[in-house]
Amino acid sequence: MIVYFSGTGNSRYVAEALAIRLGEKLVNAKEYIKEHRTAELSSENSYIFVAPTYSWRIPRIFSDFIEIGKFGGSSSAYFVMTCGDDIGSAGVYLNELCTRKGFTYKGVMAVVMPENYVALFNVTEKAEAEQMISAADRRIKQISGFISSGNDFPAEKLSFLASLKSRTINPIFYKHFVKSKGFRVTDKCISCGRCEELCPLNNIRLVDGMPVYGENCTHCMACICGCPTEAIEYKKRTVGKLRYYNSKSPVIDD
Ligand SMILES: Cc1cc2nc3c(=O)[nH]c(=O)nc-3n(C[C@H](O)[C@H](O)[C@H](O)COP(=O)(O)O)c2cc1C
Ligand code: SF4
Ligand code: SF4
Repeated sequence: MIVYFSGTGNSRYVAEALAIRLGEKLVNAKEYIKEHRTAELSSENSYIFVAPTYSWRIPRIFSDFIEIGKFGGSSSAYFVMTCGDDIGSAGVYLNELCTRKGFTYKGVMAVVMPENYVALFNVTEKAEAEQMISAADRRIKQISGFISSGNDFPAEKLSFLASLKSRTINPIFYKHFVKSKGFRVTDKCISCGRCEELCPLNNIRLVDGMPVYGENCTHCMACICGCPTEAIEYKKRTVGKLRYYNSKSPVIDD
């Protein structure tokens, strides 16, 4: 069973591609998180958790989802993380999570995908994004080969910098950067409600046709990147900047 979380579609794309290759069932964690439902799942085969990288670890919202969920049947777990660059030493924390959950940790593999973090950086341009997704398709094939053979993923070589990023910078990042304050809606808004629907934390409500933000945000970028009219800005940082949202469906032809 493949269980995934995705803000702007990259991890959804990877999860769907793996599901086609491996013939596995797909579960979208957002549907549980949005409805405050705890997962009660059962899988004959290994669990495959797919998620983006947020500050060199899986998103806290997703690790909490796994932490409190019930996962019956198989007791082994693979992790696949999409990232714009690298996942640091995320595996150390995933291994610990597996120990707490009684899972045998089968390893983590990264899939480099287009950058989505428009609130802090420039997202990947369209043409480059296409090339990255083609390269990701080859990586996904490789990953599915490991999983279908039942082998562990290759062990990661961890540098001092990778450890520093995941151990030290991650908590600082959550404390100082991951905040709802800063989002604003401009008069380009057409009151379509997509931002409300996309937010995994139900942090956005339409009031008199205009989105109003609450205080519970995980900086997934779904609202700002998924808005069809680019009506959402984050502080002054996103004005005039490209948005990135992956709506592609994987096509497997090899
Ligand atoms: C809050 C946040 C933090 C991020 N941190 C990292 C990071 O530490 N390393 C990295 O390579 N990419 C980072 N990214 C980029 C995303 O992990 C990457 O674009 C991912 O594929 C997005 O997946 P999604 O479309 O499924 O949400 C970050 C993005 C966001 C929104
Ligand atoms: S997605 Fe954009 S246009 Fe639609 S309601 Fe939200 S801000 Fe307005
Ligand atoms: S408010 Fe926007 S960035 Fe924050 S969690 Fe919701 S969709 Fe993601």
